[in-house]
Amino acid sequence: MEKEKLIEQAKKARGLSYSPYSRFAVGAALLTKDGKVFLGANVENSSYPLCMCAERNALYNAMMNGYKKEDFVALALSADTDEPCSPCGACRQVISELFPKSAPIYMTNLKGDFKETNVEELLPFAFSADDLK
Ligand code: THU
Repeated sequence: MEKEKLIEQAKKARGLSYSPYSRFAVGAALLTKDGKVFLGANVENSSYPLCMCAERNALYNAMMNGYKKEDFVALALSADTDEPCSPCGACRQVISELFPKSAPIYMTNLKGDFKETNVEELLPFAFSADDLK
């Protein structure tokens, strides 16, 4: 699948956002090797720390359908930001555990701005399972 199509899916996922508190809708779309796309959107709660981000919901959505790290090939996210929307710190940590290190992550906004990155760039020196040995 071309990256433009995956980005369109991330924008579409924003429509699933439940964000009555921040009024900031984020969408994510995760592509698997077999061509499936799993969507995620942010889901908020009146107890604010319980809010869940779009990227994590996309990853967890795929995992609950039997997919895992090795199956993931690209992740796109989109929000109505001035610059391409960047994953928060918590998502970077989760992405670094569950998404392949060098696979493309497309950060986008609604104006069509676009930046490709990957886990290595987003979270250098990440804490990981290796540190628990
Ligand atoms: N949010 C995401 O979904 N992904 C990010 O990487 C940044 C923040 C959500 C969390 C919250 O629902 C809203 O955006 C405002 O922070």
